[in-house]
Amino acid sequence: MRFSRLYGIGVGPGDPELLTLKAYKALMEVDMIVAPRSREDKRSWALLTIEGVIKERESEPRVVEPVFPMTKDQAKLDFYWEKARKEVLEKGVGCETMAFVTLGDPSLYSTFYRFLEVFKDSVDEVEVIPGVTSFSACSSIAKVPIAEGNEIVSIVPDARTKNAPRVIGSSDSLIFLKPKNTVEIKNMLGNKKAVLGVKVGFKDQEMLTGKLSEIKEKTRYLATLIVKKEPQDYESESDFC
Ligand SMILES: C[S@@+](CC[C@H](N)C(=O)[O-])C[C@H]1O[C@@H](n2cnc3c(N)ncnc32)[C@H](O)[C@@H]1O
Repeated sequence: MRFSRLYGIGVGPGDPELLTLKAYKALMEVDMIVAPRSREDKRSWALLTIEGVIKERESEPRVVEPVFPMTKDQAKLDFYWEKARKEVLEKGVGCETMAFVTLGDPSLYSTFYRFLEVFKDSVDEVEVIPGVTSFSACSSIAKVPIAEGNEIVSIVPDARTKNAPRVIGSSDSLIFLKPKNTVEIKNMLGNKKAVLGVKVGFKDQEMLTGKLSEIKEKTRYLATLIVKKEPQDYESESDFC
């Protein structure tokens, strides 16, 4: 079974209006949509984001929602990837094109590139369509720039890793994905300006701003924390765009 084209589509953070025109056009014509979810009893966030587009279509695409559990257990991961591979190949019979949809942008902590690795021998062409990241959306809603002038930005997917304290110490602006260990983050950066976006772009979005130590919110998967240190001296030469 071969597909003529695989799209890796970033659907943005959850607000359907933040879907790019290129993504919209591909989703209107693709034969099959593959939307990852983390558990059997949960819907795919990416699929929820594009529900409106699917309804607009004259012909319904085939939809597969494979489970990719959030675990480091390799045996469990292998089991679910094999299950997903079979599901896609079975449901894809007769389909020419398929799109793997992912929240935000496919280049950032997405399952898309693993998916491509698994299916690279079953597709002729690959096209990756970028999407608006969760932190761009948080920054826009809070009207807090992520970086200006020569400021250095770092993305921290897990503040418990060995390198995290070094990166946190040497960056002007920090983006924490699914912020865990907020106590440790607060101990390091508590008096800094922070923006916490929860389920940004979805109907029940929450945005909290203030000093990091003042933000009281339990850790959630769909949350992004931006912390800014002091403004830099912008007198040195830099490229502004
Ligand atoms: C596996 S990463 C995927 C990142 C995504 N590819 C992007 O470009 O934003 C998932 C993390 O992204 C962040 N995220 C994605 N969508 C979000 C949203 N709508 N609101 C808040 N955070 C979001 C959360 O930190 C979540 O734990």
